[in-house]
This record gives sequence, C-alpha cells and structure tokens, in this order.
Amino acid sequence: MTQGRAKRNLWLHFTRMSSYGRGEVPVIVRGSGQYVFDQNGKRYLDGLSGLFVSQIGHGRREVAEAGARQGSELAYFPLWSYAHPRAVELAQRLADLAPGDLNQVFFTTSGSEAVEAAWKLAKQYFKITGEPGRYKVISRDIAYHGTSMGALAITGLPAIKEPFEPLTPGGVRVPNTNFYRAPSFVAGDLMAFGRWAADEVERAILREGPASVAAVYLEPVQNSGGCFPPPPGYFQRVREICDRYGVLLVSDEVICAFGRLGYYFGAERYGYQPDIITFAKGVTSGYAPLGGMLVSGRLMEPFSEGTATFLHGVTFAGHPVSCAVALANLDVFEKEDLLGNVRAREAGFRATLEKLGDLPIVGDVRGDGYFYGIELVKDKGTRETFSDDESERLLRGFLSTALFDAGLICRADDRGDPVIQLSPPLTCGQEHFDEMEHILRSVLTQAWSRL
Ligand SMILES: Cc1ncc(COP(=O)(O)O)c(C=O)c1O
Repeated sequence: MTQGRAKRNLWLHFTRMSSYGRGEVPVIVRGSGQYVFDQNGKRYLDGLSGLFVSQIGHGRREVAEAGARQGSELAYFPLWSYAHPRAVELAQRLADLAPGDLNQVFFTTSGSEAVEAAWKLAKQYFKITGEPGRYKVISRDIAYHGTSMGALAITGLPAIKEPFEPLTPGGVRVPNTNFYRAPSFVAGDLMAFGRWAADEVERAILREGPASVAAVYLEPVQNSGGCFPPPPGYFQRVREICDRYGVLLVSDEVICAFGRLGYYFGAERYGYQPDIITFAKGVTSGYAPLGGMLVSGRLMEPFSEGTATFLHGVTFAGHPVSCAVALANLDVFEKEDLLGNVRAREAGFRATLEKLGDLPIVGDVRGDGYFYGIELVKDKGTRETFSDDESERLLRGFLSTALFDAGLICRADDRGDPVIQLSPPLTCGQEHFDEMEHILRSVLTQAWSRL
C-alpha cells in the first residue's frame, strides 16, 4: 500500500525517481535512540542523524511532548510585530550560548532561509550605513549553503546550480580547504596550505573590488566534498582579512552548531568570532523545523533607530512549537552533557574510522567531533580518484544501496571526490562506532572486489 502510494504521489528531494521503478522506496516509520526502523521492522544505525539533524537521537518523548504542550497553549503566532514567550526564551538562551557579541536572534524555518536572511541583512546593512555598493558574497568551491535561489548563488556546486541559471548575482568562489588534494606548492605543509587558502579570500576581495564585497560565508568544517576541517590559523587569517576590508564573516553552522563538533558553535571550537552565525538542523534535533541567524549587536544598531526596518520575514519563522521543542532539546544537551560526550569520545570515533585505512579503497579519513568523511580512491599511492563512470557505478550502483541493506544510514557522495560521510547522533558511544566500522569494512571490501 504505502509503496504504491509513495511511488504515485511523493516526489523525493534530490532523488532520481526512476531508480524506484523496480526497487522499493525506503520507508522509515519509527526511531529510537541511535536507530531507525523501516516498514518491514528492519533496524538501521542512523550514522547521519537523518540529515545532520538528530543530535539527541530519535524517540525522545520529553521533546515531542514539549511541542505538543505548546501546540495546545499557543500553536501559532507570527514574529511580525509580535513576540511569543518561547521565541523570547529561546532567543535569550541562544544569545547566552553564542560567542562574543552575537546577541540578536532572527529566526527562520530552515538553513537555506537563514543563509538568505544573512545575505539580505548584509546588503541592507551596508545600504543604510553608506556603502550601498557592497552586495557580493564569497564562499568556497564545493561548499553547500542551501538550495533556494539566493542560497544557491552562494553554494559552490556547479552541477546543482546550472539548471537554474541565471542565479542571484554576486556569488564569488575561492578554493576549499581540502588538504588531501592541496595544490603541489603547499602540499605536505598544513600551515602553508591554510595560509594560502585564507589569502585566496583576500585575493578574491581585491579582484572583485573591496567596495563591492558584503560577506564571506564559511562552514567551520566544510561538509560537501567530505568534511574538510579548517587548517590551523585559517579562520584567524580570514577574520583579519575581513576586518581589513570591512567585509562581514558569516559562519554557516547549519550542520556544525549544536554539538556536532563538541561545542555549541563551531566558531568556539576553532577560536574565531563571526559577525553572523547561521543555524538550523540540530537546534531542534529535528523534532520540529527551525533555523535562524545569530547577529552581532553592532549590525542591529542601524536598524534600531527612526524608521529603519530589516525588510524581511517568513510566516513560520520562530514557530512557537519549534521554539518549545528547541528549548527542550537544549535541556537534553545540558542534562546529558552531550557536548562532554562528544569531546570525550571523538578520539575513539576517529581511531575506529582510521582502522579502515588498511583497505585499499580508503584514501583519507578526515573530520572533527562527530563529523567525518572517508574519501575513496582507486590508487592509494597516487591518490588517483575514480572516473565519472566508475564513481557512478561505485556510489549509486553499489555503495548507497549496499550500506543501507547492511543496516547503516550514511552518505555516499561524489559532489566532490567520492566520499562516505558519517554524522551520528551525539549520544553514540564506542559500540556504535564499532558497528559503523564493521559494516563499512565489509561493504567497502565488496566494493573493491567489484571494481
Ligand atoms: C552549511 C549548510 N547551509 C545551509 C544548508 C541548507 O539548509 P536547509 O536544507 O535547512 O535549507 C545546509 C543543508 O544541509 C548546510 O549544510
């Protein structure tokens, strides 16, 4: 029943619907802790937290009930000219957690909306402070910053942009921080690589003309391409460059905030101060949708006088149910010391994944916290990657299905070089890391033998 109806009426996101012509649509019906279950009762380890979302794991009654209680008290009221108690409480709590002077919270419903809101804020801020020419945004190659038209203009993945060109003007790309594939003149020297990559931001600002650049968008650990942590000093250097040219630094933490890296915010882990942090996903652990941006009080100032108004808003932003859920989610973080858990166990996670390094197909294991990418290669010695055709056969033709069939939800992705990504709930411990390693070892060994 469900299968037939799913095939008839449900359009899945970023999915080749033709692949379900013969095969079954995976239907996930229930979650409990680190696991989810399909319609046939089969259990899967959720090694991706759904989509980098379920920080506290599945089936938490107290968080769901907080949403239900709020729904019966006040299900909806907008943040357009009004406040409601849960938005006020959550804004204060987030401002208290955020680094430095990020004390203004502007809610959205999603990460893409948060990314767009930050761009709109940057543009309007510069218009009302006498620098109307600043509208461009710099981001990294391969970086994913969302799919709505503005966010897509910031995203650095040509393949998912091309069908929608022309996009919002002003997106500018700089190299990413993939040290495994660093240019030869900085290969093998992480500090020099980091310095070069940061200086590329300065070169882009100069090339575009500093008076035209509004913001630089960076993720603490770049997701797309397979979890590139920043080289030491990278963010400090970018911060200096942004200050030199009066450009805003936006830390896009839609994935990296709320414990993914063992801190509430990735900027804390790497010791830099952004002007804006964008967030979504883990703020509610997915028990209801919510996104937003944390903004420096300095950027709010020009909007707090006279008739000045930030001309932006969406109906469901800061939805009362989502805010209540976010507060209950943060209570779980505190009660169970989830940040402490990640910090205590991340070395074990890394060491367990690094065991896979003895397989001929595993080229690189990289990441931080509970956020890792495993790059697959054809030749470990030369780091040769797969051709498009091999990658298609390997990832779509085999790995994605085989890993799922083996009971592991993770991501096999070739938007950069082929990688497998893991981003498990923050409640995971060694037994879950071992289970991931065991399944990956078996499936990657089969993949190699099929090449
Ligand atoms: C860094 C980053 N920014 C923005 C987004 C877009 O978020 P959403 O899918 O909630 O619109 C994502 C989604 O994965 C993301 O990883």
